[in-house]
Amino acid sequence: MATIIINDESMEGKVGERLLNVARHNGAHIGFICDNAGTCQGCRCQVLAGAEHLNPPTEAEQSWLPAERLAEGQRLACQAIIHGHGEIRVLSRAEELRRMVQAVVRPPSGARGLDNLPPLLTTLGQQVTDQLALFPQNVISNLRRVGLRRFAFPVLDRKRLFADVARVRERQQ
Ligand code: FES
Repeated sequence: MATIIINDESMEGKVGERLLNVARHNGAHIGFICDNAGTCQGCRCQVLAGAEHLNPPTEAEQSWLPAERLAEGQRLACQAIIHGHGEIRVLSRAEELRRMVQAVVRPPSGARGLDNLPPLLTTLGQQVTDQLALFPQNVISNLRRVGLRRFAFPVLDRKRLFADVARVRERQQ
């Protein structure tokens, strides 16, 4: 068993298991639409520690994430597979954005929400810029990899998707 800390919450993962599956089993706040196809990018995350206990970035990750972001430790959780028993610490993009939005709309007392807006806009802008820089090769290579049907209709198991989203929301309340 490996210790996986997602968004500051500790959980256990097995060697060979995808980070996304660990997150979904535990109701961690992380995006997921395409059921591990590596096409929706909802599961984008930042590996803060323990990257050496994961597989190298896959073809899907290399298509969506510029080399610079991969070097910074960004991964797609559905492509990141646990390879070792050490601790892995991750912040999901979904949670990172949620925290940034919270800092704008509900700033800590004494702080001004608007002062927290630039980091949020910078993060969103960087994501768009990254995608534009890789377009259209990112779309073409993923169409080749998974096929048009899987790319256009990414959800394989709607019931599981809704159930997992409900568990994430429940945990957040
Ligand atoms: S769940 Fe869609 S890219 Fe990971």
